[in-house]
Amino acid sequence: MESFVIEGGRRLSGSIRVDGAKNAALPILAACVLTEEPVMLTGMPDITDVRRMAEILRMLGCQVLHEGHCMRISGMEMCSHEMPDQLSKQIRSSIFMLGPILSRFRQATVTYPGGCEIGLRPIDLHLSGLRALGVSVQEEGGVIHCDGSAMHAGEVHLDYPSVGATENVMMAAACLEGTTTIRNAAREPEIVDLMSFINRMGGRVRGAGCATITVEGVGRLHGCEYAPMPDRIAAGTLLAAAAITGGEIEVTNAPVGDMYAVNAKLREMGCEVHELRDAICLKAPQRLMAFPLLQTQPHPGFPTDMQAQMLALLSVSEGTGVIVENVFENRFTHAGDLNRMGARILCSGRTAVVRGVEGLSGAQVTARDLRGGAALVLAGLRAQGETRVDGAELIDRGYERFEVQLRRLGAKIDRIHTLT
Ligand code: UD1
Repeated sequence: MESFVIEGGRRLSGSIRVDGAKNAALPILAACVLTEEPVMLTGMPDITDVRRMAEILRMLGCQVLHEGHCMRISGMEMCSHEMPDQLSKQIRSSIFMLGPILSRFRQATVTYPGGCEIGLRPIDLHLSGLRALGVSVQEEGGVIHCDGSAMHAGEVHLDYPSVGATENVMMAAACLEGTTTIRNAAREPEIVDLMSFINRMGGRVRGAGCATITVEGVGRLHGCEYAPMPDRIAAGTLLAAAAITGGEIEVTNAPVGDMYAVNAKLREMGCEVHELRDAICLKAPQRLMAFPLLQTQPHPGFPTDMQAQMLALLSVSEGTGVIVENVFENRFTHAGDLNRMGARILCSGRTAVVRGVEGLSGAQVTARDLRGGAALVLAGLRAQGETRVDGAELIDRGYERFEVQLRRLGAKIDRIHTLT
């Protein structure tokens, strides 16, 4: 087991650059198998989830060369339509492979995906979307068999704008003859990035970023070079880290246009936030002010992936505030640990009521999911004394050497290896 040990109380300052977005990189990796030609990806985040996805591609027969932030994927020798069981259970994004594998082989076998334990996270919308394209789906014993021999372009209406389901259907339809329309599609910026990538390979996708996406199938896609968009959640987390320490930082290479909801909340808390073309500068007040209400929503609403970090900030703000988590049903698992550090958070179902306290005190706590773990690190930066966050591996899923980034901004944080 790995842990972060933090000596709290240091004000963060300086400038830091964000990497490519995890949530853009993962579906893009899946989409690489839509073509038999090699794809060169640059600016990829060097995080565990990306390495696991690369491993899945290898096990399917693809050639993957991975060096730092660059990856070269060649799907020419891809030979299997069966997703490796163990790896699929470790990473929810493995479900993205369904659409691309169906596109290549007209059949696919996957097991129910894993990932962070932040809710039930069913895949019914992925499956109903594929069924609307003529795929027949049979589920038995946790294994899903998809037969796409009668696949066709079609009309897909999603009951809820699921990010993953929208991306899966987009990829499945990219090479189907005819026009597929996806209605009530998710509008997250990473979906726009996936559209740009598919189109760079010669695809004809329009409308991503809006509720209706049109995919005109093309006979075949070709190789290309691509760099995923920068990570708005990593950028937001760094801004939040500065805010909780009363700091002043600049985050460069930030997708500014996709971060208005987060920046607006940080301003509501009394931070000065300046948006430049591709950088954000934040100066935090001595004491943050509580916002009355934050509700997570699909984009362009407040992102659920920034909720945990904002809960940490709220816990040391002046006043009382409420957070409602509308996207996932079990995403307050970090609240108990924040309370152990001295916060006063009351959770009931999807709602957390927070009475701000002056300060937190260091404690030994445990990351239970990726963003919740990051929130505990933020709390540790602010707390008096030493905080140890166990389960650093969960944080590594989505943050590239988080401790190194924070150290660069002046934090005192180390990674330790402990025996379980
Ligand atoms: C993606 C992001 C994740 C983010 C989430 C919401 C990636 C790799 N992950 O996850 O970081 O938190 O979007 O912005 O991009 N649902 C169903 N049935 C389905 C699919 C989803 O009921 O078939 C529900 C989920 O349980 C959840 C909600 O819909 O409550 C949102 O899920 P979805 O938008 O699909 O998120 P993911 O694609 O899993």
